[in-house]
Amino acid sequence: MNWEKIDHRMKKALSEERYRHTLGVVKTAVEMAERYGEDTEKARLAAYLHDCAKCLTLDEMKKAAKDLPHDPLAETSKALMHAAAGMCVARDEFHVEDPDVLGAIRWHTTGKPGMTKLEKIIYLADMIEPNRKPFPGLDALRRTCRTDLDEAMKLGLSMSVGHVRAQGKPVHPDTQRAIDAYADSKQQTD
Ligand SMILES: [Fe+2]
Ligand SMILES: [Fe+2]
Repeated sequence: MNWEKIDHRMKKALSEERYRHTLGVVKTAVEMAERYGEDTEKARLAAYLHDCAKCLTLDEMKKAAKDLPHDPLAETSKALMHAAAGMCVARDEFHVEDPDVLGAIRWHTTGKPGMTKLEKIIYLADMIEPNRKPFPGLDALRRTCRTDLDEAMKLGLSMSVGHVRAQGKPVHPDTQRAIDAYADSKQQTD
């Protein structure tokens, strides 16, 4: 992988703040990949590209993701739409073929049930990277990320829902399904 080239392209595509965030996600995702036995090169690539569509307009995002199934809620929101659009940009412009890397980009904002290890790592690294503005529970989430990936996902998903609700916005159905799946699996083991 030509990391210099990817770094250069991301620096150009993103605002300064978003680029700094991306470097934080790269560092955190690689550390988590080492801790949890995931491929660090895949983690680095997914982290570098996870917000590659973040600075596009909503129309550009929808155009990039035009071959994906309709997602009426995401299509009204740059905050949601940049994830699916980012996967398409990674695929079409960065020629990423690895479904694991593409999935990690696609699901980094909403989550979904049955996420892979890499998908969980990118979802969480995005929330806890060192440049993140502090939010309630961030320290606890960072601690949990060091000990248990699924516990951290449960915490991360519920924090994300709390944040969305506090803004008066609807919770994406994929996020709700991810939370429900964790609740179901707990019931089965209780
Ligand atoms: Fe993002
Ligand atoms: Fe991000």
